[in-house]
Amino acid sequence: MDMLFKALSSPLDLSSFLSVHADKVTPRRLTHLKDYFSDRQTVREVLAKDDPLIYEVWEVEYAGPGRGLSYGMTRLFPGTIGNEYFFTRGHFHSGDLGDEMYVVNSGKGVLLLSTRDGYCETLDLTAGQMVYVPSHLAHRTINIGTEELLFLSVWAPNIVHDYDTIAERGFPKLVVASPNGPETIENPVFFTDKNNPTTKPL
Ligand code: F6R
Ligand code: ZN
Repeated sequence: MDMLFKALSSPLDLSSFLSVHADKVTPRRLTHLKDYFSDRQTVREVLAKDDPLIYEVWEVEYAGPGRGLSYGMTRLFPGTIGNEYFFTRGHFHSGDLGDEMYVVNSGKGVLLLSTRDGYCETLDLTAGQMVYVPSHLAHRTINIGTEELLFLSVWAPNIVHDYDTIAERGFPKLVVASPNGPETIENPVFFTDKNNPTTKPL
């Protein structure tokens, strides 16, 4: 019987879940994120020597009858490019049932959330933290710690993941390393109207 038709059970320590359940592992290296980090000079310098692994997504896509649920574990590694911490690309959800659940297993991070019209907020992510992400908020995870940030996400399989909007305009805010620790700053090149980028810097 297909795994998706059975009940799934996993220990609360999600790190042991990784090798057991996932049927697809997607590595995301700096090459995949080179246009997302703001310090392009550092991106070029790092890529000239290496192509570091920024994160991996261990995923189970629902393929059974009815609506179902898909889920995945993200392992976001610690590190920085320039002063920006390693992050996931980030995306909006569109389509029906676009909400999502995040549960943090380990590590220290920030969840950057934003609406299409530029409202932005951050939430702290620590072990055991659970976040309900409503469908209208784009989400990006940022590892501000020194360990891997490991979290589970659960979403409806009919969600359309919209990456293009974030790829084109970024998030309104950046989370950067400063002498005082992690700091959230305005993104100087964010624009809310992708058809008219020059007139709408924050
Ligand atoms: C799914 C979801 C997460 C992310 C994962 C990687 O809706 O939000 O599973 O897909 O953390 O981030 P992205 O997809 O932005 O590269
Ligand atoms: Zn999502």
